Amino acid sequence: MADLKLTDIAKSYGDVQILGGIDLTIASGEFIVFVGPSGCGKSTLLRMIAGLERITGGTLEIDGQRMNDIPPSQRGIAMVFQSYALYPHMTVRDNMAFALKIAGQSKDQIRQATDRAASMLQLTPYLDRLPKALSGGQRQRVAIGRAIVRDPKVYLFDEPLSNLDAALRVATRIEIAQLKASMPDRTMIYVTHDQTEAMTLADRIVVLAGGGIAQTGAPLELYARPVNEFVAQFIGSPAMNLLPGRVAQVGEMTTVTLDGGGRAQVAIPTRAGDEGIEVNVGVRPEDMRETDGEALFQGRVDLTEALGEVTLLYFGTNQDVVPVIAKLPGIHPGRTGKTVRLTADPAALHLFHKGNSLLYRDGADLPPYRPHSNAPSGSMGGAHGAGAIPSGDAAPDDRIDEGLIKPEGPAR
Ligand SMILES: Nc1ncnc2c1ncn2[C@@H]1O[C@H](COP(=O)(O)OP(=O)(O)OP(=O)(O)O)[C@@H](O)[C@H]1O
Ligand SMILES: [Mg+2]
Repeated sequence: MADLKLTDIAKSYGDVQILGGIDLTIASGEFIVFVGPSGCGKSTLLRMIAGLERITGGTLEIDGQRMNDIPPSQRGIAMVFQSYALYPHMTVRDNMAFALKIAGQSKDQIRQATDRAASMLQLTPYLDRLPKALSGGQRQRVAIGRAIVRDPKVYLFDEPLSNLDAALRVATRIEIAQLKASMPDRTMIYVTHDQTEAMTLADRIVVLAGGGIAQTGAPLELYARPVNEFVAQFIGSPAMNLLPGRVAQVGEMTTVTLDGGGRAQVAIPTRAGDEGIEVNVGVRPEDMRETDGEALFQGRVDLTEALGEVTLLYFGTNQDVVPVIAKLPGIHPGRTGKTVRLTADPAALHLFHKGNSLLYRDGADLPPYRPHSNAPSGSMGGAHGAGAIPSGDAAPDDRIDEGLIKPEGPAR
């Protein structure tokens, strides 16, 4: 059991505030995923929870106990890093056992814990191997094993799969999901740039941006009801299209005259006085379909990408404009250069005014919209943090560095 409560957490380096006003309650057994543009503070927040980074404002509680000044080893937390540096001269078993040896546990206890972790991670056949004789995925599982042997209440993962190739990522992602299912009362916080990991692993996703939390919610909640344009474009790939226009008719159903010439019926209410306000109609590429009737958008296809299961149509690919993208199911040959008319269900459309969704306009707790400079969508890509397992006071987190087996995944 371990619930976490972050109250008004802030982090500054000197005069520069990186994070502020972070309020977040995490229930025992929840799987929380942090996403956000590169440099927004995901690793910093994780490291503050672990105790590897000083909290400069606010309170962190675990099970009701204030943790701000408690050393990492006493927080009941284990962290798994992207850079899963292993000791090259130690077998898999010894790598996993290392922290327990340092902690002075008995041989029996250590054997039991490593056997259990190895069987959970399907590493039993490799226990006597050296890391150099393992695949990247197996090495990352050893790193996760080093966390499991300590039987922490809270697991923190900082992009643990980002050095693995695509197939291994999928396999290891599924293993992490199964691992979580086998430990329902363990709390996990996981940082990723990968949409699929975020959507499939999380009970709740926390979108960090502009130094704070943009939105917290179940993955499909964020997908279906983003509070602002940032979240709307960050979750989902390719990103949601934003079509500028003005409100023409208010009511339960809102009619928008689009600058591009089309009209949109949006199933989001507006009220008297909203006539004429500038809005962006949000439409996900996968919600667009071809029509002979009234179009939301009409354009000449500049580029098609045929992926087999879907075809992406790009409109406006010169560098100055953000292209509109439609994702049609199936195969659609010969569309490049043709004019296409597209529409979408009113219920699938989103409506933003000054960046915020009009769906939440009466909600008191609407987080402030912060315009972003990073291109949010699609990539969710970026740099990464790196480090090593915090295994106790005696072991500073950057102790594992030189001369160790490092991931050799794709350069990022
Ligand atoms: N020791 C430090 N001194 C000053 N600024 C720092 C320090 N460490 C990190 N930062 C800054 O804090 C911000 C947040 O960094 P952090 O590593 O938490 O980002 P992130 O969200 O994990 O990014 P990424 O997705 O690239 O891993 C960055 O702008 C970074 O430059
Ligand atoms: Mg990071």
